[in-house]
Amino acid sequence: MRVLVLNGPNLGRLGRRQPEIYGSTTYGELVALCEQWGRELGLEVEVRQTNHEGELLDWLNAAADDETPVVLNAGAWTHYSLALYDACAQLAAPLVEVHLSDVSRRPEEFRHHSVVTPHAVAVIAGRGVDGYRDALERLSRGDRG
Ligand code: DQA
Repeated sequence: MRVLVLNGPNLGRLGRRQPEIYGSTTYGELVALCEQWGRELGLEVEVRQTNHEGELLDWLNAAADDETPVVLNAGAWTHYSLALYDACAQLAAPLVEVHLSDVSRRPEEFRHHSVVTPHAVAVIAGRGVDGYRDALERLSRGDRG
């Protein structure tokens, strides 16, 4: 099974970006880890990151057409992008929402709302990069509930 792991804005700077919040694992290391976890789970994993919202929307539209399961960390777009809400609504295969930090416990009120959650079969937050492994495991089980 093919799985897309899609990352939104600023996540390309993982390891350098506020490591006290997001950890010291670099984006390159995260990509390698996701590919390794994918191999262990028998998944064909492709990891992407963009700082351009339209590019993420194009990827999600293609995933909808191809019925590809998605692991999504949409970064700050999570909290306010209605276009992202609409794109996630169209997905036909399961979507798992991931955040490195525990957004529900962070002090900024805006992080407590997600446009992705209504469309996700699971939300994994606050587990750092291990959350991506949990999300891939969740998709490899194949159940929707
Ligand atoms: C994040 C949390 C978001 O609030 C933030 O804007 C990010 C990263 C996380 O992985 O914890 O860019 O999605």
